[in-house]
Amino acid sequence: MKTLILAGGSGTRLFPLSRTHYPKQFIPLIDSESLFQKSVKRSLIFSEPDEITVVTNEVHRFLVADQLEEMHVTCHILSEPQGKNTLPAITYGITNIIRKDPDAKVAIISSDQLITPDESYKSSFGAAEKLAEKYLVTFGITPDSPHTGYGYIRPGAAIDGGFAVDAFVEKPDCETAESYLRDGYLWNAGMFLFSAPHFMDECRKHAPEVAQAFTLPRDEAFQETPKISVDYGIMEKTDIAAVVPLSVPWSDVGSFEALYSVHSKGEDGNAIRGEHLCIESRDNLIISDRLVATIGINDLAIIDSPDALLVCPRSESQRVGEIAGLLKEQG
Ligand code: GDD
Ligand code: MG
Repeated sequence: MKTLILAGGSGTRLFPLSRTHYPKQFIPLIDSESLFQKSVKRSLIFSEPDEITVVTNEVHRFLVADQLEEMHVTCHILSEPQGKNTLPAITYGITNIIRKDPDAKVAIISSDQLITPDESYKSSFGAAEKLAEKYLVTFGITPDSPHTGYGYIRPGAAIDGGFAVDAFVEKPDCETAESYLRDGYLWNAGMFLFSAPHFMDECRKHAPEVAQAFTLPRDEAFQETPKISVDYGIMEKTDIAAVVPLSVPWSDVGSFEALYSVHSKGEDGNAIRGEHLCIESRDNLIISDRLVATIGINDLAIIDSPDALLVCPRSESQRVGEIAGLLKEQG
């Protein structure tokens, strides 16, 4: 099976760890491996190195190459002259793959998630590979909150190993997400398994400007193509989507709160990267290369980097993305 790893996003909610030139997927967030490197390891479960293609922005090409070299893995890297979101990135990858392998099945893997693959992960992908003969397959996670940053899927009729998709709604508002939770919707895990020809057919049908652009050479294609995600561009519109439930620990580590919840913690509830001296301080997330000492502080995120320090209540950490806006304003 071929694998396409999407590694071109920015992830602004982990400032100051993530920056435009050093996005979330390349940071060693949990341990010494980056989320990107973990996604390469996951891809190697089903694909040989030369069956894996990484699609990333031109400015991150060397970061990708370095991180692959660290792992002693040689795979294909495609670089985009400008980020136009996931539908152009996938179309670019698939038009390359299809030239050599016209009937390829392609797993599309996000590089910004923390997933612990186990036997059920393998069997979900096995079921998805079979369903990809007929369907555009996505993976469904049982939701635990009305998160508005995800796609929601209403599973319909049971089909072999999964369900037909009755509805796919990308990033609903909170009220709608609450009703979806009550109605048994699943979260879209942000991974897909497509047969290359079916994907191209659906792209020509639902996003003809994107499909048309990728008949041109790379730079013109990225100039011409609209900016759109695969979720809005194809998955919300197609009539041939199927979902395979995925029951592995899954996090998109989209905020420091999410990072805190997946991080190992001491008895005092503190999650620490670095050295910490603490007096009566509980349930903090502290990341720093310097010694950090705290007294009487609870439930904070303290995130240190060589040129910036963030301190905020963990519960406010979804707002960290606002800082990217402030920084842009300041130039
Ligand atoms: N190459 C490339 N180029 N990759 C990109 C680009 C791009 O222009 N934009 C985003 N990516 C990569 C990101 O690095 C990430 O690995 C993946 O594509 C998904 O993009 P995000 O921007 O992180 O999407 P999202 O988190 O808002 O939403 C998606 O994932 C959710 C689960 O985490 C959607 O698929 C949702 O439906 C889903 O629930
Ligand atoms: Mg994401």
